[in-house]
Formats: sequence, structure tokens, C-alpha cells
Amino acid sequence: ETITVYSPYPRELIRSLLNDFEQTENVKVELKQGSTQVLLREIHQSDEDELGDIVVGGVLSEMIEHPDDFEVYESKNQKYMKYAKQKVPYVSDFILMPTTIVVNEDLIGNIKVRGYKDLHADELKGKVVYSNPLETTTGYQHMKAIESINHDVDDVKDFMSSANKVDKSSKVIQEVAKGKYYAGLSYESDAKAYINKGYPLKMIYPSEGTMLNHDGIALVKKENINPKSKKLINYLQSKKVQQKIADEYKIQSGRKDVFNQNKQVAAKFREIPVIKDEDISHLTRKQFLELIQ
Ligand code: G6P
Repeated sequence: ETITVYSPYPRELIRSLLNDFEQTENVKVELKQGSTQVLLREIHQSDEDELGDIVVGGVLSEMIEHPDDFEVYESKNQKYMKYAKQKVPYVSDFILMPTTIVVNEDLIGNIKVRGYKDLHADELKGKVVYSNPLETTTGYQHMKAIESINHDVDDVKDFMSSANKVDKSSKVIQEVAKGKYYAGLSYESDAKAYINKGYPLKMIYPSEGTMLNHDGIALVKKENINPKSKKLINYLQSKKVQQKIADEYKIQSGRKDVFNQNKQVAAKFREIPVIKDEDISHLTRKQFLELIQ
């Protein structure tokens, strides 16, 4: 018996959670990785017999263009989540992921980078990289963060015209780590994974406002839904797994009753200058993307 999970997360993070589930449930879990929109497109275009089962990660409440590809589902754990009510009925909440700037410390020298504005410095011309907002959660959320500063899409256009676009979020972190660019628009888990590998990187929560991604989980609509798929959603939202994510990966849980045991980590999360909901553009993804073209 096999279930297939689609995920844009770094492999180390998602695979370890799935491995634990495989053992407790005695089921094999296959992993398909890619940028959020690439995975969603694959699901939309798949024949019934090739369809996988669950998407884990990405800001699915916004990124999903075809809600009909997914099953309306609310797990028994949803009530324990920080946002007890699902934003859309086909997406369950998972974890909270800040989008961050990363800089290569060996290259950045005296150039101060605290937020998005600093990336416009003359010395950084051609040295900043970001991932395609049409294909990736990360690129899209950063562009929304930039818009939220002055509520002006021209700021997004200015940024895009002076920075370098790549097709995948994983390339952003790779290329800053290897020194092809001085700075990039990334997200916490990817940045931390590379810092842990020893690359000379620094992670910055943009001072003007940091976008906190509400990462989601969605159940693929198909004729025969494997009951283990629903079990996996409940499992990923369970207190045990969410506590493990908080403790081992220092990630902010999506649950109300899970706290980071590590005081330093907890204090750091409280200091992140998170963009307030009311400052985020209320346009739909489609409208927003049209405006920034
Ligand atoms: C984000 C999301 C994560 C997602 C990651 C990679 O920042 O919060 O849930 O896994 O991006 O996805 P992407 O589509 O940018 O490759």
C-alpha cells in the first residue's frame, strides 16, 4: 500500500515526518517534490490513475487555482490550530513559515541589509536573486510583502526590474550560498538548512514587514480516497508531530497548544516584524499577478 505526497518543502524536513508516519501506519509514502505551482499543475493535469493523494506545504489557500482538484476536508485537529477556522474549506493549516532575506556574509561586506529597501543599494545592482512569483509560494509571498510596505505595486515592479529571477526557490538559496549572488529572497527552512550545512549565510527578517506564510495541507480529489490520506493529515496536525517540528526544526507550529521549548527560539519568533493581515493586499492571486506583470 502506497500513498503519494506532493511537497515543495526541503527534502530533509518533509521526509523525516513521512518516515515516522510510514512506521506507525505501516504504509509506504512516496514523495514528489517541486515548486508549489508546478505540483498543483501536475495534479490538475494528471489522469485519475496517476493522481497522488496529499499536498503538504506552500500557501495553498492562495496558490490553488482549481479548488475542484481538492476535497473539502476538516480534520479533527483543525480546532486546535491557531486559526481554528480554515481559510478555504479544502485546505487544512499546517505550520507558520516566515519568508526571509538571505545574504552571503563573505560577499556582502559593509553593505547593510535589514529589509527590502536596502536591496536597492547601487552596490547590489545585479546581485539580488528571487524566485518566480508565478511558480513559487516564496516568490509570490515576497512580492506581496514588498507591495504591503507602501500599498504600491510599482515597488514590486521596481524590485523585479532590478533583481534576477530564477525558476525555483531552492535555486535562490543555492546561488547565494555559492556566491553567484550577494542576497536573495528565501524562506526560513531553506535558509536554516543551508546555514546548518556551514555556508556563510545570514538570514534576515525584512524590517519593513516579514510575510508569515500560513502553510497548508490539501487532500487531492479522486474516486478512491485512501483512508490513510486523512490519517496523515490528522497526524501532521497532531500535538506530537507539531511539537517535534517546533523542537527539532525550530519551526512555528500551526497549533495553539504547541510552544517552542527553547526560550531563545520563542523570543526570536516574538521579535519578527510580521506584516499585519490588514496590510496585506486583498487582491486574488490572479489579480495580483496580472498587476505586477
Ligand atoms: C514557502 C512556503 C513553504 C514552501 C516553500 C517552498 O516559503 O512557506 O511551505 O514549502 O515556500 O515552496 P516554493 O513554491 O517557493 O518552492
